Amino acid sequence: MEVLPSYDCHCHILPGLDDGAQTMEEAVYLAGRLASYGFTRAVCTSHSSSRYCNTPETVVPACKALQEELDRAGIDLQLIPSLEYRLIPERWPEIRQNNWLLPWEGNHILVELPLRKPQKMGEINPAEEIRKLVSDGYQPVLAHPERYEWAPDDYYKNLFDAGALFQRNLGSIEGLYGPGPAYRALKLLQGGYYSFLGTDTHNRQYTDMFDRILGLA
Ligand SMILES: [Fe+2]
Repeated sequence: MEVLPSYDCHCHILPGLDDGAQTMEEAVYLAGRLASYGFTRAVCTSHSSSRYCNTPETVVPACKALQEELDRAGIDLQLIPSLEYRLIPERWPEIRQNNWLLPWEGNHILVELPLRKPQKMGEINPAEEIRKLVSDGYQPVLAHPERYEWAPDDYYKNLFDAGALFQRNLGSIEGLYGPGPAYRALKLLQGGYYSFLGTDTHNRQYTDMFDRILGLA
């Protein structure tokens, strides 16, 4: 069975900010499930993409509001505000220019690539952006590399060598995202590429799946 870390570094449980939790009630439910898996902290990484233009200004108060609800409900989960930054021209240069980076644990920044259409990155070279983050004192963490099915097998080595750490999604190996990501996740795991495990929780479908994987259903 999967051994989980003490904290979840990737989830979308802040209500109404992206394609994750939509209501406070749903957010409290999802946070309760994360706590039941043994997580004591959760980094709330709402999307910062072309569709969901979140910044520290939107996630910090949302995190505080959800934390108050969790405290009231007696759910023992400490929330940490952060963001999941998509490396696309419509968003990433603006983030960098405005210094909207909101790292967790001092310097960790979760970045993601387009899931299906790599051309959306345009002129952006992810390895270069990772090198720039490292030279600015950040620790870039690449979200769920197993999910970029367009990427050839050797694509990741460049990003890893540029200084990115890799984050695997809970459920990838068990097939939550299909056979391609399951195979890729296993290969990256065997290659020792992963430093983080996150849930990427968006809604109840995720936690229902985790309940099964973790033997709680
Ligand atoms: Fe995510």
